[in-house]
Amino acid sequence: MESAGISFGVDIGGTGMKAAPVDLATGALAGDRLRIDTPRDSTPERLAGVVADLVRRHRWAGPIGVCMPTVVTHGMVRTAANIDESWIGVDAEQIFRETIGAPVNVLNDADAAGLAEMTWGAGRGRDGIVICLTFGTGIGSGMFVDGVLVPNTELGHLELDGYDAEKRAAASVRRRDGLGWAEWAERVDHYLRHLVTLFSPELIILGGGASKRPDKWVDRLDPGCELVVAALANDAGIAGAALAAPLVPSAADGQ
Ligand code: BGC
Repeated sequence: MESAGISFGVDIGGTGMKAAPVDLATGALAGDRLRIDTPRDSTPERLAGVVADLVRRHRWAGPIGVCMPTVVTHGMVRTAANIDESWIGVDAEQIFRETIGAPVNVLNDADAAGLAEMTWGAGRGRDGIVICLTFGTGIGSGMFVDGVLVPNTELGHLELDGYDAEKRAAASVRRRDGLGWAEWAERVDHYLRHLVTLFSPELIILGGGASKRPDKWVDRLDPGCELVVAALANDAGIAGAALAAPLVPSAADGQ
């Protein structure tokens, strides 16, 4: 991996859009991480414009990877839980490619975070079933079987006590409902126990925005499965998106 070089990742979240160059040998950001609030009007044209702006501000000229809070198959967006519904059915790879003028690969945000954790972080070298969860605006999931991604698992939308699980246990719900950390952790634990019952994972990686403050909640969890905090914290999405960017000959790498 030493000569893997630098790639570029964009992480589109329900709340913020983040972009940075990434060192593919280590997964570390290789430049400033720029962040822009996700526009309320999060339509394809609007978000493509913001992505182009982030790429321009970094003076990046090569291919990029973009991850989004949606099911993505063959570059097409299939769902839109936390962004504008007009994304459904849109060829995201095409719209980004046309807007920035370079090749683009698009994948689900939690799949990207999971890929980064499995490559450089908390899941490195781990076999069996590993589930990487991101606790942010929603709950995202990246599931791996012997290191191979099962894309678009969407485990944040499992039904829990009659609710969409992420509406009970996402990090945004803690703030929305004014819950204390203990109260929120109890909900997360309940959710994790449900996951453990269904999938018997060997390891659950806890990521997303909430992984920046693990001392507040992680010790309170006991779902009957090994837990580990994401090593790349909230940058895992950017890093995984960069990892998924189309490969090009090094001369055209852009930096
Ligand atoms: C979306 C997922 C996404 C997760 C985290 C959910 O609402 O359905 O696709 O991975 O939020 O952003």
